[in-house]
Amino acid sequence: MRLQKYIALCGVASRRAAERLIESGRVTVNGGLVDYMGCEVDENADEVTVDGKVIKPESRLYYIALNKPKNYVTTVSDNLGRPTVMELVRDIDARIYPVGRLDFDTSGLLIMTNDGAFANAVTHPSHAVDKVYIARISRPLEKSDEIRLRGGVEIDGRLTAPAKVEQLHGRIPEVKITIHEGRNRQVRKMLEAVGSDVLALKRVAVGGVTLGNLPEGKWRHLSDAEINKLKGRRKK
Ligand code: URA
Repeated sequence: MRLQKYIALCGVASRRAAERLIESGRVTVNGGLVDYMGCEVDENADEVTVDGKVIKPESRLYYIALNKPKNYVTTVSDNLGRPTVMELVRDIDARIYPVGRLDFDTSGLLIMTNDGAFANAVTHPSHAVDKVYIARISRPLEKSDEIRLRGGVEIDGRLTAPAKVEQLHGRIPEVKITIHEGRNRQVRKMLEAVGSDVLALKRVAVGGVTLGNLPEGKWRHLSDAEINKLKGRRKK
């Protein structure tokens, strides 16, 4: 199999992050440096190291849902010293990492795993996994704003893909938005494009897995049905 796939299978990084490890010269195969793409390995015969340590396929795969509080970064480490989501999953004895990302100031559902192939499948644009957000906004949307958001608005010089938009009629202006792209600060920018500021943003579902009543800062294992739902998604 491809070297980057093997590294992902070992739970060291997602397949794309594994490619970066290879390119930065941190990977050897049978003692020789491999810093180019295209290397194939035999998982039963070859010895692969990352940063000098021999890696082996994970014996147990983890798939969890974390309710990320705001003011946590969704990276494994942070060079600004901010709290990372890794601090909230310390009780798991495996090298799990976030599947996709949420902004520092966004809360809600974050899937984490040590299964690189799974992480790759869920985040790959061709799989178009739906993500549902609830945004508290500075003013209620006009019907025309909703229509624009549904059809696609221009952010960073490019139109967004069609979205589902539903205003929630509570005490404070809130909107539920479903998107399948993962562009930088996408929901905030979409709402800004129609003249509304986001005061708080929470992700409540990913590919049919819902946050439910999981308390902030806590995690739970995904059920087999949830894992299969995420694995089985295909381009719409
Ligand atoms: N859109 C945003 O603006 N922020 C997130 O964290 C996710 C989607």
